[in-house]
Amino acid sequence: MTEKSLFCGINNPADSSNLTDMEKKHVPVIEAPDTVTAGEAFEVTVKVGSTPHVMEVVHHIQWIDLYSGGNFITKVILTPVFMTAKVTINMVKSGAHETATLRAVSRCNVHGMWESEKVIAVK
Ligand SMILES: [Fe+2]
Repeated sequence: MTEKSLFCGINNPADSSNLTDMEKKHVPVIEAPDTVTAGEAFEVTVKVGSTPHVMEVVHHIQWIDLYSGGNFITKVILTPVFMTAKVTINMVKSGAHETATLRAVSRCNVHGMWESEKVIAVK
């Protein structure tokens, strides 16, 4: 894969059980409870990379988007040098569905967009 192709669409790991060094630094990690209670707030943390990504002016994570199913939840704009590529938000699920798929998309200014998902149960 060339560097240029990283900017064509959203990147996903070829084998999520055996990440490359590039994937370890770019695939978002979603931390949320496996089961949440409808109507009660819970924390969702998204950090970019199981290996922390650099946040230098010339190379950094520009933003992190979070979706729940097809619903846009938030976009967090990150400032290099002054921030790390990790955000925590509070969410509430309505209970209209028994599960929710949280999806994080982030963008590196050098290596393009990357995504990951985590399915949670809603009781
Ligand atoms: Fe990068």
